Amino acid sequence: MEFPKIIFFLSLLVSLSSATSVVDFCVADLRYPGTPAGYPCRNPANLTADDFVYSGLAVEGNTSNIFSVAITGAFDVTFPALNGLGLSIVRLDIGVNGVVPIHSHRVSEVILMIEGTIIAGFIGSDNTAYYRTLTRGDIMIFPASLLHFQVNIGEAPALAFVSLNSPNPGFQTFSTSIAANNLPTEIIRRITLIDAAQVRRLKTIFSGTN
Ligand SMILES: *[C@@H]1O[C@H](CO)[C@@H](O)[C@H](O)[C@H]1NC(C)=O
Ligand SMILES: *[C@@H]1O[C@H](CO)[C@@H](O)[C@H](O)[C@H]1NC(C)=O
Repeated sequence: MEFPKIIFFLSLLVSLSSATSVVDFCVADLRYPGTPAGYPCRNPANLTADDFVYSGLAVEGNTSNIFSVAITGAFDVTFPALNGLGLSIVRLDIGVNGVVPIHSHRVSEVILMIEGTIIAGFIGSDNTAYYRTLTRGDIMIFPASLLHFQVNIGEAPALAFVSLNSPNPGFQTFSTSIAANNLPTEIIRRITLIDAAQVRRLKTIFSGTN
């Protein structure tokens, strides 16, 4: 190869490798607001291995709530290394008789059962319900945006981990979403066909008004 060409290829390699080190990851700089595309990146020079490790899922969550569930998430805001990588992971502690109430996300989810026995399922957009009993080692898929749920049917607390293909998957729970706001009871009754007394009961539980 002629000398100028070698210089050209060497400089191309150098510029490619420096570009690669910049795009390997983008640990979120939470001093700036999030956007639909995520957060700006922290300076890679300031990062250490600790920035790529999160221990928040080691701790059992507090299930003292109306659903007897604790949802402990490693999302971009709690684990900034996930920023831009298109994934997150969540610990589910579901108490005896507990549930993950019916909800949806912008993205798809896979659950891995660690302990206990649950019924998990989702409802297709044609209203078909796909639900199954899951035990240790089972995994199940919940496709993007479809309503889904988990119900502990065992005699002990259940433990599972779910992963979602976004660092900020969103979490919209049906009962909470319709009741924990100021949407008038009469409108909720008409758009859901749920009796006004039941709507008022949900509003009381979830601190809604009107
Ligand atoms: C990152 O490192 C540079 C160079 O050491 C330093 O000037 C800068 O203040 C650091 N930024 C943060 C956010 O720690
Ligand atoms: C669990 O949450 C409940 C309700 O918020 C609270 O009263 C209780 O102190 C919490 N328990 C622990 C161990 O943090």
